[in-house]
Amino acid sequence: MKKYSRTLLFVLACSATMHAQKAKKTNIKPRNEFIPELMAKMTVDEKIAQLVQFTADGTVTGPKSGNNFIDEIKKGNVGSILNATGVKYTGELQKLNMDNSRLKIPLLFGYDVIHGYRTIFPITLGETASWDLAAVELGAKVAADESAASGIHWTFAPMVDISRDPRWGRVSEGAGEDTFLGSKMAFARVKGFQGNDLMSLNSILACTKHFAAYGAAEAGRDYNTVDMSERVLREVYLPPFKATVDAGVATFMTSFNEIAGVPSTGSKFLVNGILKKEWGFNGFVVTDYTGINEMVPHGYAKDEAHAGELALTAGVDMDMVGGVFLKHLKLSLAEGKVTMAQIDDACRRVLEAKYDLGLFHDPYRYNDAKREKATITKKEYLDAALNVANKSFVLLKNSNNVLPLKKEQKVAFVGPLVSDEFNIIGSWAATGDRNGFAVSIQEGVNKLVADKSKVSFERGVEILKDDRSMIQKAIASAKNADVIVAVMGEFENMTGEAASRTNIDLPGIQKEFLAELKKLNKPVVLVLLNGRPLTLTWENENMDAILEAWYPGTMGGDAIAQTLYGMNNPGGKLPMTFPRNVGQVPIYYNHKNTGRPYLGAKDPEQKYKSRYTDSDNSPLYPFGYGLSYTTFEYSNLKLSSSALNANGKLKVTVDVANTGNYDGEEVVQLYVKDVVGSVTRPVRELKGFKKLLIKKGAKQTVEFELSPDDLRFYNIDMKFVAEPGDFEVFVGGNSDAALNSKFVLVI
Ligand code: BGC
Repeated sequence: MKKYSRTLLFVLACSATMHAQKAKKTNIKPRNEFIPELMAKMTVDEKIAQLVQFTADGTVTGPKSGNNFIDEIKKGNVGSILNATGVKYTGELQKLNMDNSRLKIPLLFGYDVIHGYRTIFPITLGETASWDLAAVELGAKVAADESAASGIHWTFAPMVDISRDPRWGRVSEGAGEDTFLGSKMAFARVKGFQGNDLMSLNSILACTKHFAAYGAAEAGRDYNTVDMSERVLREVYLPPFKATVDAGVATFMTSFNEIAGVPSTGSKFLVNGILKKEWGFNGFVVTDYTGINEMVPHGYAKDEAHAGELALTAGVDMDMVGGVFLKHLKLSLAEGKVTMAQIDDACRRVLEAKYDLGLFHDPYRYNDAKREKATITKKEYLDAALNVANKSFVLLKNSNNVLPLKKEQKVAFVGPLVSDEFNIIGSWAATGDRNGFAVSIQEGVNKLVADKSKVSFERGVEILKDDRSMIQKAIASAKNADVIVAVMGEFENMTGEAASRTNIDLPGIQKEFLAELKKLNKPVVLVLLNGRPLTLTWENENMDAILEAWYPGTMGGDAIAQTLYGMNNPGGKLPMTFPRNVGQVPIYYNHKNTGRPYLGAKDPEQKYKSRYTDSDNSPLYPFGYGLSYTTFEYSNLKLSSSALNANGKLKVTVDVANTGNYDGEEVVQLYVKDVVGSVTRPVRELKGFKKLLIKKGAKQTVEFELSPDDLRFYNIDMKFVAEPGDFEVFVGGNSDAALNSKFVLVI
């Protein structure tokens, strides 16, 4: 993969440079002269227009504003359009705009390019399960190139919301529960989308969303209230956002939720305070879809005009779809409720982004039909999607090495998703084709297994319908087989936005069907296509193997077939804890200890401990967990010293041996526990990971480095410091890693 992706990155970089050089040839003043000169000519209306975004007629994720975007473009009232795609259509809209724009200010086209544009990669949660930063960056790079080739300038990604609640449907769009992993992923995604030079035609603006703490919605219900201490906000939820600022992200999006009584879109504390002042963010901030208008039902603004004033004053620069800035901002200015300086600042930020993309050099530079045709779903990109899908799978169980399958075995593939080409690309799959272009599992298997008498495919049941009419036929095929592979999961739209669930079991009668299959006394492998942690307690007890395949994207069927038949050894690790039952939620590995920690069945005190009376505390599968067709053994954990000084570094080394029969990739994880703090610290926290390919029979020494900076947290005085004292270190293949050592931080 590394070799492959480097070649691909090189190709992308070369063509990027060529395009950038082309753009630089056009005669235009530098940004710090061009933008002020332009703004000096702009009227208040023209400035406000830059802060207005309307949706074209594509996907809409909220109420339509009622504004006719075509008329508004003609009137010169629009700075940006979302949901228009394709060189032809965006080109037509751009022309309409340029023909009507007095000062020839181009439109900015935004779109939700989340995990691919047409070549669809695994959903973000699945891609994160690869723990492979190069793969993740490559996924974003391919998405950027395809969408840029199709007239898009700006994606609303990465979504970096930490979430500890699998009921929340949007966990599928994010990097899971952990701040450290999430921050690394967020950084890699921005680099992938934006590259090193926004002027390059392969780059698009990234947009970090949803600022902030949207993933902590109460009860996992989308758009719901959030309340938390500033310490938790800063320590757990904000670092991935900050990581994207460090990566140079061009734009931010506010979130729908309130935090501690203030909707994010009206939060001075968050937007002007933390993002723009504290972090020095110089790009622009867009609201989420009608986020300004929603401050009225939130009970924070008395009407839309008031909401607009609150948003601009908080530091919001662009109004997504709500039409509030367009309708009210001029009057608010006249009434002294907002200032010209605020409007100027917002306008400057938007214009600078357009400048950085080269749109003032040439508003049609993303509108090259030949390039569009040559770029979309080109072979290298499909190969890259296959490669990344193969890295995203997590093997949850594999009793008696039932996997990998052998081509001589008779295998009955059953289940509602076995021949699916629609759901397999997951939710929010941009312009991904759901009508036959994606590779189904049936297709993937048929490509690999030449002897068709060895495989059969039956649906058996539907995902949600209570229809038992197909079960007998599927059971009959299974009776004939040596191994049964059941492909089940959720509909793609059961995850993503507005898709929260209170029950996260395998939906419908799928489990009932599995129970029927189990009665046949043959090995049953469960392959899951889904977008969140599910409660799989029964499945874990009753199935022989379980492969979590998420929604693997366009090439998903090939990747799953290759994995089932052992051409790919799964090496993914869970980016979110899988609970035993939904009553344990929120459940996450880096929790605090309580004053009455429960020590499990051996605890001499069973009653007055922090525990459930009807369930274990522990999850079904911990964060970081994932098996392989081979086995890894950890030994020889060593620290370079038993003490770490203020300016020192501590080396942590461990030997990892591949003790099984296959070459395999392992994600070696380093966790740290700060034993005593001026505020309590989590039981352990991820502080490093390395993904390695280890050949069978081989052993590698893995080295991590820790410095006092890695041990910082918000202390009792809200200072971000490391406190002296005892630390424990754990290294292993998941967050339950047992191998441990200790050191003292001396400051
Ligand atoms: C979502 C955003 C998305 C926007 C534009 C909203 O409903 O929350 O994540 O970027 O729509 O489609």
